[in-house]
Amino acid sequence: MTTWGFIGSGNIGSTVAQLAVNAGHSVVMSNSRGPETLADVVATLGPRSRAATVDEAASSGEVVVVTIPLKHYREIPTAALSDRIVVDTMNYYPGRDGEFVQLDDGSTTSSELLQALIPDSRVVKAFNNIFYQHLAVLPRPAGSPDRSALPVAGDDVAANASVAGLLDELGYDVVDLGVLAEGWRTQPGMPAYGTPYAVDPSNWPAGARPSGVAEIAELAAAARR
Ligand SMILES: NC(=O)c1ccc[n+]([C@@H]2O[C@H](COP(=O)([O-])OP(=O)(O)OC[C@H]3O[C@@H](n4cnc5c(N)ncnc54)[C@H](OP(=O)(O)O)[C@@H]3O)[C@@H](O)[C@H]2O)c1
Repeated sequence: MTTWGFIGSGNIGSTVAQLAVNAGHSVVMSNSRGPETLADVVATLGPRSRAATVDEAASSGEVVVVTIPLKHYREIPTAALSDRIVVDTMNYYPGRDGEFVQLDDGSTTSSELLQALIPDSRVVKAFNNIFYQHLAVLPRPAGSPDRSALPVAGDDVAANASVAGLLDELGYDVVDLGVLAEGWRTQPGMPAYGTPYAVDPSNWPAGARPSGVAEIAELAAAARR
């Protein structure tokens, strides 16, 4: 059993937390407004969850999921995340996040920005390429023919393997893209972003379809920028 901390408890944070609880893990949820605003979230997640401050969520999680709009990423508690595996779900949307010149010119990626902010942590990019409603309904037991795959990327091989193990427990196979710099392959606008898991790629809420290792690996390899 692993304790997961969450910085951010919105659509994707709450969905990952629900899958973690379903798999028997404990979760510590936080947001920008304080634990008292998370009563409904922890009531839904049940007894293996609790609400906390951002600092508490960061320091009590063996794995900490940073799942907030990218524009706020510099606000995370860097010291409390030291030595942690930090799972990064964030995507860059200039209309929401403001312009990051170094992302616009392709000289780095959003997960590398996060890694640079927390050099004593081991950042693993995961959950960024799937719509939260699809993430909620696509878990399957290991070996199922319709099991879906999620990409991971990170500079620490052991951390990538740890996160891959957790994803397996949550009901997903894994495509390891390698280092963080390869994470652009599943970012917004790329073929492996969102649409493979959608019944209707033009309307993600219309429903989910499984997408396995072969398809996600092929689409990630086919990415061009
Ligand atoms: N939605 C998806 O399907 C999806 C899928 C993959 C990846 N993503 C990415 O994952 C990230 C989160 O997306 P989302 O859809 O879950 O967003 P969301 O529903 O808007 O939730 C954002 C969460 O972040 C919290 N937050 C914002 N600033 C914070 C800060 N400084 N410290 C602590 N918590 C903070 C918010 O708390 P308050 O409400 O208290 O401000 C809220 O709980 C984004 O980067 C998004 O691009 C989303």
